[in-house]
Amino acid sequence: GLVNTRDMFKRAVGGGYAIPAYNFNNLEQLQAIVGACAETSSPVIIQVSKGARDYANETMLRFMAMGAVKMAREMGSNIPICLHLDHGDSFELCKACVDSGFSSVMIDGSHLSYDDNVALTRKVVEYAHAQDVTVEGELGVLAGIEDEVVAEHSTYTKPEEVEDFVRKTGVDSLAISIGTSHGAYKFKLKEGEQVPPLRFDILDEIERRIPGFPIVLHGASSVVPEYVGLINQYGGKMEGAVGVPEEQLRRAAQSAVCKINIDSDGRLAVTARVREFLAQNPGEFDPRKYLGAARKELIKLIKHKNQAVLGSAGKA
Ligand code: G3H
Ligand code: 13P
Ligand code: NA
Ligand code: ZN
Repeated sequence: GLVNTRDMFKRAVGGGYAIPAYNFNNLEQLQAIVGACAETSSPVIIQVSKGARDYANETMLRFMAMGAVKMAREMGSNIPICLHLDHGDSFELCKACVDSGFSSVMIDGSHLSYDDNVALTRKVVEYAHAQDVTVEGELGVLAGIEDEVVAEHSTYTKPEEVEDFVRKTGVDSLAISIGTSHGAYKFKLKEGEQVPPLRFDILDEIERRIPGFPIVLHGASSVVPEYVGLINQYGGKMEGAVGVPEEQLRRAAQSAVCKINIDSDGRLAVTARVREFLAQNPGEFDPRKYLGAARKELIKLIKHKNQAVLGSAGKA
């Protein structure tokens, strides 16, 4: 069945790689994620956001996840698969997921005051651990797509808080903010400007204060330029879309970062191939055709991430 994150994180921290955490909302995404991870022998976290629950129905997604475990086993693969709630925003939501069979949850109290974040996270941990469900907490706020200037530095994780936070809350992993953000427009670059490096100095300081503790990196899509190019070529409009360069993700994966969240790259892969397919096959109307093309690209993307970026391939 589904497993929590404890063992996979322990092995990843010791092994200098990161477990991929892919978001899913539909059948083709889930088939691609679990199929590609089975083929590359990678442990995997499949995660469901609040938006995914609203879109696809929580019960449906949970049974799909259990079906995906069976699919992997039928493929002859024994990879560990964790079903995780992404960005839980209340005790009630986390409780509902624990009660229904998720093996891991995130409580994102990063927008609250420090003390309120501690209290809420602690409450979720107490409830979840009683059912052997692991919990991810968060300190520091990821930059939003729109806000830029707003005291850039104050939103990074404060290393001086992490030791107290993990001790008081009992969380199993900690999401941090070191310069990434969600979505496809992570950095506003001026003409000829390079993507600024992530704040590895903050990560190093966090690692020094809580050695060996599992760290999570959100907003870790590379915003693959090939996909942005295809989207723009076939009628889309995504000027200025930019993500985290692979080299920086490789470096993060080799550090205490042991979970890397990827959603946007999968969305881009699907959109690129669907746009291309429909443009090139105007008479086609069978969704299996264009979703099949999208799924094929997703499999390629996920294998590449596991093998060449996160280093999780072969670690199951
Ligand atoms: O953290 C955000 C994830 O990419 C999920 O996004 O809320 O649109 O499903 P979503
Ligand atoms: P991306 O938008 O960079 O894929 O980040 C996804 C994420 O952090 C989900 O929690
Ligand atoms: Na790591
Ligand atoms: Zn996130």
